[in-house]
Amino acid sequence: MSASFASRLGIEHPLIQAPMAGSTSPALVAAVSNAGALGSLGAGYLEPQAILDQAAEIRALGDRPHAIGLFVLPDEFEADMAAVTRAREQLDALMIREGLDVRTSVPARWAPRFSDQFAALCEARPAVASFAFGVVGPAQMRELRQRDIYVIGTATTVAEARAWVEAGANAVSMQGAEAGGHRGSFLHDAEDAMIGLFALLPLTVRALAASGREVPVIAAGGIMDGRGMLAAEALGAAASQLGTAFLTCPECPAATAWKQDLPGVEEHRVTTIRGFSGRAARGLRNRFVEAMPAAAQGLPYPILNALTAPLRRAAAAAGRGDLLSEWCGQAAALVRPQPAAELVARLMHEYRLARRSLAH
Ligand SMILES: Cc1cc2nc3c(=O)[nH]c(=O)nc-3n(C[C@H](O)[C@H](O)[C@H](O)COP(=O)(O)O)c2cc1C
Repeated sequence: MSASFASRLGIEHPLIQAPMAGSTSPALVAAVSNAGALGSLGAGYLEPQAILDQAAEIRALGDRPHAIGLFVLPDEFEADMAAVTRAREQLDALMIREGLDVRTSVPARWAPRFSDQFAALCEARPAVASFAFGVVGPAQMRELRQRDIYVIGTATTVAEARAWVEAGANAVSMQGAEAGGHRGSFLHDAEDAMIGLFALLPLTVRALAASGREVPVIAAGGIMDGRGMLAAEALGAAASQLGTAFLTCPECPAATAWKQDLPGVEEHRVTTIRGFSGRAARGLRNRFVEAMPAAAQGLPYPILNALTAPLRRAAAAAGRGDLLSEWCGQAAALVRPQPAAELVARLMHEYRLARRSLAH
């Protein structure tokens, strides 16, 4: 399964560098893809022109198969402005207390319009499009197919995997509870859909086989080395998708303070957080999470995400990892800071060694 998945995509290794909105760069994506794995641009926060510009940069750096990842969201959001005002007052007070010289503001739009981002993705025409937070509609699936774009849908439960297969996805990325970043859940409350990868993979593989609609299943969550990739394959995965492992690569644009904190992360401090963005996400329980203003906690995504953006930017500039959204998976302490191409080669070397040692 892993060899046929890789060859269908024109890549050498059954390894995907996860799309990580705000934490990928054309340099990272190109380095991973040029090394024979699948690099992914996390484009969920990008305006359409930025998607086109970054896609052009990736092509200029090597033009190997790569993915662009989007969040499936409505185009417009209604905000409860009284709640926004209360949250802003408390967030501003927090920033004053912490000595950050920025304040919240109400943006012209709470998030880029999904339909415009989708049009930019189609125009950029990457080999792979990866989606989270929902399922694309039939017309959008047709547009992707017409352009021969391979579609990966993110799921956190068997029911979500089935929904993506029904919609026509070519593969499903199963996001285990261990996974760093936002939960992709869309049919269930994120808290109910915290299924460990060792349970989620075989459940999904069996369910898709039973339905007669088998597609490659990709494993995501807590995989940090080649042994983990092999374990995922043993449970039926066609490829492994790693996010946190790539955060400490020099090509990754994550804030320096965040990168420095990852090797020391204690797994019991990696938790589910809504307070940065309004949507459940896995990351480090740091000072912001503990001091999170009560008024902010009730705001939904992407309203809260937009309101905390100035705080997160200022914290990054000030080297204050304790106030940043330090997303990471449960095995974050296993990061190995090194250039992305070297990490890909190392992961594949470990994977082959693990395979050989288990064969004896
Ligand atoms: C910083 C960060 C940002 C992420 N952003 C996205 C994203 O934009 N789109 C997406 O589909 N998944 C996103 N994810 C989740 C990954 O696709 C993947 O499920 C996860 O990284 C796997 O767990 P790991 O981090 O333990 O490797 C993100 C993960 C991290 C760590």
